Amino acid sequence: MNSRRDFLKHISGAALVASAAPSILTWALPQGQSVPVPGEDGMILRSFRFVDLEAPVEYFNTWLTPVPHFFVRNHMHEPSELGAGDWRVTVGGEVEKPLTLSLAELSKIESHSVVNTLECAGNGRSLHRPQVPGIQWGKGAVGTARFSGPRLRDVLQRAGVKSTGNHVMFRGLDEVPGKVPPFIRSIPMEKALDADTLLATHMNGFPLTKHHGFPARALVPGWIGAASCKWLTEIKVLDAEFVGNFMSTGYRLPNQPVKPGDAVKPEDTHPVTALNVKSVIAGPSDGASLKTGKVAVHGAAWAGEADIAKVEVSTDGGATWSPAKLGHDQAQYAWRLWSYEWKPAKVGDYTLLSRATDSLGRTQPATAVWNPSGYLYNAVDQVKIHVS
Ligand code: MTE
Repeated sequence: MNSRRDFLKHISGAALVASAAPSILTWALPQGQSVPVPGEDGMILRSFRFVDLEAPVEYFNTWLTPVPHFFVRNHMHEPSELGAGDWRVTVGGEVEKPLTLSLAELSKIESHSVVNTLECAGNGRSLHRPQVPGIQWGKGAVGTARFSGPRLRDVLQRAGVKSTGNHVMFRGLDEVPGKVPPFIRSIPMEKALDADTLLATHMNGFPLTKHHGFPARALVPGWIGAASCKWLTEIKVLDAEFVGNFMSTGYRLPNQPVKPGDAVKPEDTHPVTALNVKSVIAGPSDGASLKTGKVAVHGAAWAGEADIAKVEVSTDGGATWSPAKLGHDQAQYAWRLWSYEWKPAKVGDYTLLSRATDSLGRTQPATAVWNPSGYLYNAVDQVKIHVS
């Protein structure tokens, strides 16, 4: 075996048991051996074959998510060899002057920062009923970071977009296993030219880590995470939306609500773009047992390209609602932390709910809109606790 990946390929996923040690996440093997998993302390491993890490909701108590606690979503293997010196990104397609840029050249272009809440379209998939196949994300495939790097539009302007350019396609350097199609998607020109759409090289002030797309990734703020291609190697201006697995089949929603088992024709679907309005309760934890006294119910709420207008909390299973206090930190595409101080009147079992409303007037529904791929789950959040 010549690499850790080869070793990992040799151990059957089904035979493994996850165990979170205090400082490093490891997989305990039946023989008592363990191998380090390229995750971070306390993160939930959702897929071992390709690294998919989810944050426990209890981590959502800072406006900016520390990078080690930022979820990771990979459709295939992360690139194995990535030297900053050798790396290049090409810009071609419907442009006047195709370009090739090194990291040094990219870093000479004016940098811009955007605090963005990045959420996987499949976040919350495990909560849809009936259940749908795919990575069974709980609530933590979301995080907020300050992303920095040149604006995509400044790079496109250098290349000179032709009048025939309508979409911008991104290709990553992922290692594509077997017959899996490569991770290639495109965004419409209007979003590509938005002043906040970036070729991000930094996250929370530091160069991107490999999990998050080193040395450069697209950052398409307010949109599902899949729009923000990691390990960029090619940017191509197209005359129309990219045709391929992750654009024409994946990441699409039916135009009309459908029921499980309904046949959905591709022409009756559209690509998922901006995120929904949503809130989650970070504390108290589901199943917690508390003593009487003051309880801080708190969490985070976000709404893609829109702003959070209010978050309401119910401590009686939805019979009555009270406004939560929104945190001071805010930015256009970033979540708001919120909190609500509650003093339970008596001991017993309680269901706590949170419900966000955004500047577009959208409110989290009691039940999320079911769809065959389990995207954009955003039902009112709930935790059950006991007060003794
Ligand atoms: N880019 C490449 N090249 N390959 C991928 O598998 N996953 C996408 C997106 N960019 C992906 C990618 C998806 S589905 C999401 S949700 C985000 O990356 C996750 O970004 P993160 O891993 O930095 O949190």
